[in-house]
Order: sequence, then structure tokens, then C-alpha cells
Amino acid sequence: CSALSIANANTVKIGTEATFAPFEFTNEKSEIIGFDIDIIKAIAAEEGFDVEIVNMPFDALVPSVLTSQLEGAIAGVTITEERAQRVNFSDPYYKSGISAVIRKEDVSKYPSFDSLKSSRLCAQIGTTGANAAQKISGNVGTYNTVPEAIMELKTKGCEAVLNDRPVNLYFLRTKNDDSVVEIKELLNGEDYGIMVSKKNPELLKQINDGLDKIRKNGKFAEIHKKWFNV
Ligand code: ARG
Repeated sequence: CSALSIANANTVKIGTEATFAPFEFTNEKSEIIGFDIDIIKAIAAEEGFDVEIVNMPFDALVPSVLTSQLEGAIAGVTITEERAQRVNFSDPYYKSGISAVIRKEDVSKYPSFDSLKSSRLCAQIGTTGANAAQKISGNVGTYNTVPEAIMELKTKGCEAVLNDRPVNLYFLRTKNDDSVVEIKELLNGEDYGIMVSKKNPELLKQINDGLDKIRKNGKFAEIHKKWFNV
């Protein structure tokens, strides 16, 4: 029926990896929520399309956009040159960086990234945190999710988890877990972008236009406040 196909034509499949609070995670009802989800929905509402959020492993996002299983992805994805060769990125929408979470008892032992250079490190597979860990020590265990990497840290399978700082901060602030802390040093200079298939330049334009509109009409600020003023 034509009504159905029109509705489908307006639904855009956007991938995410929902263990990355507060950007994307699941609530008690297993609904996918978070800053990124609200942002892409607000953009879609401005631009008149619907989004279907598809949850998958982080390292499957770029391949799925490449093979058109997804039109795009929003997952706290850092804009990197390597990824930009395969997918398009929207304008940057969030400034981020990498920090390291260590066991509390090791605070004096590991004051900096450099002090971790002969340690085994943990990170989520396919992330900039995993790349940073590779550069620091080259001895890296990768996990499907950050919570799994943190678990490994707690059971002493590694000495630090390298991950995006806002996610580490949110974890430390919201989980009643004082056995882990963040080291003081930071690696700054990452920008998140929304990935879009190179085959769909119209969607890239809509997403950039929508992003611009929600920045100007206050919606972006409202969503930011909802997820970061905790
Ligand atoms: N910003 C980092 C990267 O792009 C980590 C993103 C992880 N995102 C997620 N939803 N698990 O590599």
C-alpha cells in the first residue's frame, strides 16, 4: 500500500551502541535513551523525517553504514581522518577527549598516561580510547563495551580503562562505586560527529541544517542541560 511505503521512505535507520551513558544507553524498560538520541530525534523533527534507532556493536557501525544497512550513526563517534575516508561526518556537535579510569588504590602509582606505559590497558573495541591505549603501552585488551572493560579493571585484568572523559565522568558520578577513579591527565581535542553514508549527501545536508536550527532555537541547549546537569 502506498501510505506504508511513503512512511517507510521517511524512516531513516540510524545506528548506535547503547552502553555509553549519557550519550546512549538503555533504561529499565530497555528503551534506548540519551543525549545523542534526543539530538538526532530533534534534528529529524526539524527536518521532517523519522528515525529508527538500531543498536549494534560499536565496531559494526562504520561497516554497516558502508554497506547501507544503516543510513547513518550517532554514537559519540569521534571525527577521525580514517573514518572520514569511509563515511561522511556532520558538523561537530560535541567536544570530547580521552581520560583513564584506574583502581583507587593505584592513584599514586599512576599519576599520568606516561606512568601507564608498561601496563596492560583496557578499552572498548574500535574506539579512539583503544587507539590511545595502543600508543601508550601497546598492551591492550579490547572489549565489546566499556562496562566490560571496567569490570576487567576491577578484577585486575588491566591497570586502566581508556575511554571518553564525559562517559567516564558520568559513570563515576552516577554509579555508587568508589573503587575506581580518574587520573588527572587528559587527552583533549576530539569532536563528535554524526556519521552519514557517502551515498546520501541529501541526508548529510538535512542533518547539518537540523543541527544548526536546534542550536539556534535553544533545543540543543535544553537537551544538553537534561543530560549533563546531573
Ligand atoms: N568517541 C570514541 C570513538 O569514536 C568512543 C565512542 C564509543 N561510543 C559508543 N557508543 N560506545 O571511538
